[in-house]
This record gives sequence, structure tokens and C-alpha cells, in this order.
Amino acid sequence: MPPIAYDYDRPPCYHAMKLLCALSVLLLASAGAVSSSLPVRRYGSFFNFGDSFADTGNDVVVFAAHSLANPSSRPPYGMTFFGHPTGRNSNGRLAIDFIAEELGLPLVPPSLAHNGSFRQGANFAVAGAFARDASFYRDIPLVGPLALNTSSGVQLRWFESLKPSLCHPAQECKGFFHKALFFMGEFGVNDYSFSLFGKNLSQIRSFVPDVVKTISTATERVITQGAKTVVVPGIPPMGCSPLNLAMFPSADPAGYDPRAGCLKQLNDLAIYHNSLLQEAIKKVQTKHRGVKVIYADFFSPIIDIVVSPQKLGFRGEILSSCCGKYNFNVSAGCGMPGATVCQDPSSYLYWDGGHFTEAAYRYIAKGWLNTINNYHA
Ligand SMILES: *[C@@H]1O[C@H](CO)[C@@H](O)[C@H](O)[C@H]1NC(C)=O
Ligand SMILES: *[C@@H]1O[C@H](CO)[C@@H](O)[C@H](O)[C@H]1NC(C)=O
Ligand SMILES: *[C@@H]1O[C@H](CO)[C@@H](O)[C@H](O)[C@H]1NC(C)=O
Ligand SMILES: *[C@@H]1O[C@H](CO)[C@@H](O)[C@H](O)[C@H]1NC(C)=O
Repeated sequence: MPPIAYDYDRPPCYHAMKLLCALSVLLLASAGAVSSSLPVRRYGSFFNFGDSFADTGNDVVVFAAHSLANPSSRPPYGMTFFGHPTGRNSNGRLAIDFIAEELGLPLVPPSLAHNGSFRQGANFAVAGAFARDASFYRDIPLVGPLALNTSSGVQLRWFESLKPSLCHPAQECKGFFHKALFFMGEFGVNDYSFSLFGKNLSQIRSFVPDVVKTISTATERVITQGAKTVVVPGIPPMGCSPLNLAMFPSADPAGYDPRAGCLKQLNDLAIYHNSLLQEAIKKVQTKHRGVKVIYADFFSPIIDIVVSPQKLGFRGEILSSCCGKYNFNVSAGCGMPGATVCQDPSSYLYWDGGHFTEAAYRYIAKGWLNTINNYHA
């Protein structure tokens, strides 16, 4: 989701947070893993690209550098698992955290906010990141100034500049990356969410192929570096997020999906992106034998929860957020003064206006791990 420029003071001290973060990882890394009895292939490291659905703390550094307020570096973000904000846009762990735990790897350290080794992995994801270059979105009213240089291309450059510290001489790098797990994304949600402030849906649909092309090119770029396992997540149903439901309501009742109550046109946009992405990934897979190029479904698990919340352990009123008043008051978002937080985050799907709870990420991660473990090229 686009970060919103709130007018409160700057994020808390980065150095103090880093120490707390390191401590909590040491203390908590093995607690509460996703239970799965499937055999798990061992990876030596975990490299991750993406946006707020995967950012484990880069936003703290990037937003501070641009003097932008960052809700996710304020309480109650992180309250359920870490006990303090880490820069994750959730109350606790993200899908990639559960996956790292299940693979016996450390929670993936944010590349810009970690002063130690990246030999077991690095996370380049930044909240608000685009697939395409940020310059495409800078002129959009209201949100354009929040379009930072953190797109997939920028993240790939960060990855490439980290390489000398991971593997040397350079000939060793391919072997090193053979044993790594890569996640390329999710990317795309911000390309579309920012554009909603300045373009209509047919204009937005017209550049979906370009967004998808950017993601598949990025996927091939890590394969060229030696990656043998690349997971490429699709995007979640954008029409279900409490923020979009509040910002872009439909005057016509037919604009809502009767089963889920989500905005149909925004979900159709996500379905369109996901179908083009799956086709593109299949082509990459065909070109690169011996590499696993795995599509991870981010859409269905959310719809599963929206349609059958109780069956999956969630409460009934599923399209409202636990933290903040996004349903009816955009200016009282999570992490802002006056925002309230629910009693039981584990029964909610949405933590804030556009991001999921730890409980939802646990469910998503379970599906993704099954996909990875059962994939045959
Ligand atoms: C990282 O650690 C080194 C050596 O301990 C120190 O000189 C440097 O200032 C640290 N950098 C940050 C960003 O904390
Ligand atoms: C982002 O990168 C472009 C060129 O790629 C540059 O012109 C611009 O100044 C950069 N913006 C920021 C905020 O760093
Ligand atoms: C979307 O915007 C374009 C360019 O302004 C315009 O030509 C087109 O008619 C619009 N489409 C819809 C469905 O509003
Ligand atoms: C929205 O929240 C702000 C900040 O808490 C408050 O000042 C304002 O009155 C609220 N508006 C509505 C319509 O509830």
C-alpha cells in the first residue's frame, strides 16, 4: 500500500531498535513455527525482494532518510510477536518470517538496517516499493511524493552490490546461490495502488503487462546470478482491503462481489495481473531447465479467509482492520495518535488498512510452503 504521510514526529532511534531487533530474533526465532509435516528441502540462505508485505525493517531506514513518517515503526506494530515495532507492517511475523523459521534459517535481515553477515540471507524489500521504476509514479497527485527509489530494479542493484560480501571469488557465487531460496516479490500492488489516485482502471490495466514483464525480467536476473529456486508471489485481492473499500467505494451495489463483499473491479485487476504473471513465469521456467520458478498464490488464501472466516479460525466481520479506523476514518490509521487496536488480533485478517495480521500470514505461509515443497518443474 502507499505509505501515508502522517504529520507526527520521526521514527524512533534506529540504533536502539536494531539492538532490540537482534535480541528478539535470538530469543524468538524458534518459537511458534508453521506446523507442517512435509519434508523440507534445506536451503543455505534466503534472499527476498518486494514491498510492505515482505519488508522486515528497511522502511525504518528509507523513510527516515526522506523525513517521511513511518507508521510501522510505531506501536502497536509488532505488538503480538516482537513486542515492539520492527518496521514490519503487521502485529507480528510476515509470511517470509514463517517460511524462514520452517526452513531453519534466521528471520531474513533487512539489507539496509542490519550491521552483520548476510551469508544466510538478506531482505531487500521496502514498504511502498514498485515493480517498475518510481519515476512512473512521481507525478500522481497526493501520493507521488511518496514514490521513492526502491523499485525492483533498485533492489536488484542492492543485491548485486552485496555480492562481494557473500561469495568470493566471483566464480564461487553461482554455487552459493544454487543453494539459496529466492523470493521475487510480491511486486505490483503499489504500482496499481498509487495509480488509483491519478488514473482510471482502463488506464491502469493497460500497463499491467509492463509490470509483469518487469517482474519476470527481475526473476531471470537472479537466475543469471545462479538462483535455482525462485518463488514469485502474485498479488492479493486489492478489492478486499479495508483502505480501498473506504477510499474507493462503489455507488452501485453491483460493484461488490456478493460472496466476499469486496470491490469487484479491483479484484479483477489483481486477477488480471496474476494470470499474466503466471503465463510469464511459465515462459521463464521453460527457458531455464534445472531451475524451479514457482508461482505463489497470494490471492486465494485471502479469499479463503474472507469467504469462510470462522472455518479458518477468524471472526465473522472479516473486512475490517484490527488497528486504526480505516473503515470510516482514513486520518486515524494504525500507528497514529487516537488509533485504537482490537483485543484479539489473531481473529482478524487485516491488521491495518492494507496489511495482514500475523495470523493471516501464518495461513499464507503454510500454503506457500506446500507449493514450494510439492513443485516439480
Ligand atoms: C557497523 O559496524 C561497524 C563496526 O562495528 C561500525 O563501524 C559501523 O558504524 C556500523 N554501522 C552502522 C550503520 O551501525
Ligand atoms: C531517483 O533516481 C532518479 C534517477 O534514477 C533520480 O533522478 C532521482 O533524483 C532519485 N530520487 C531520489 C529521491 O533519490
Ligand atoms: C480513462 O481515461 C482515459 C484518458 O483520460 C479516457 O480516454 C477514457 O475514456 C477513460 N476511461 C473510462 C472508462 O473512464
Ligand atoms: C477521524 O479521526 C481524527 C483523528 O483521531 C478525528 O479528529 C476526527 O474527528 C475523526 N473523524 C471522524 C469522521 O470520525
